[in-house]
Amino acid sequence: MWSVIKGRWTSLGLESYMKVKNYVRFEFNSLPENVAFARSCVGAFASQLDCTLEDIEEIKLVVSEAVSNSIIHGYNNDPSQKIEVIVSIFDNGSLEIIIKDFGKGIENIEQALEPTYSSDPSHMGLGFTFMRSFMDEMEVISEPGKGTSVRLLRHFPSRGHQAMA
Ligand SMILES: Nc1ncnc2c1ncn2[C@@H]1O[C@H](COP(=O)(O)OP(=O)(O)OP(=O)(O)O)[C@@H](O)[C@H]1O
Ligand SMILES: [Mg+2]
Repeated sequence: MWSVIKGRWTSLGLESYMKVKNYVRFEFNSLPENVAFARSCVGAFASQLDCTLEDIEEIKLVVSEAVSNSIIHGYNNDPSQKIEVIVSIFDNGSLEIIIKDFGKGIENIEQALEPTYSSDPSHMGLGFTFMRSFMDEMEVISEPGKGTSVRLLRHFPSRGHQAMA
């Protein structure tokens, strides 16, 4: 159902019945201080959904994990590289977050997704596990030498009132 077209994720199947209600896209340098920037931006954008403050904290956490992965693993902490974040809110209340880097990519995605697997012994290997547990869907597309895209989706069924931002 999900495909990569010209290097971008496209919800081919879902688009037929899910319309994008709001959308934001931004790009930043691969600097550790931009982890906080990206998580705050996505958290602020997501706060227009019918969700709780706890939901927003979870959204921020998964963004931190994915962006940190791009900086640390994708780019080996090279600050001159770029990370792209694309966030969409669909008319059914779903939130889609795509975090994309153009770094070294992942050789073995299945292994990378295993809880506690890390290619770096100083890490716990739990980033993908958090992303998967806090979101309803997670997909990883990666090609060695070309980069990695992580697509995260969470459904927020309407609760009938808005969370305070
Ligand atoms: N954007 C990426 N580019 C290249 N490799 C990645 C990327 N994201 C994840 N990986 C690989 O997948 C592995 C697992 O990632 P995960 O976030 O689960 O754990 P970690 O980053 O190693 O540890 P933690 O997130 O707990 O600090 C990483 O160790 C790394 O080898
Ligand atoms: Mg990680």
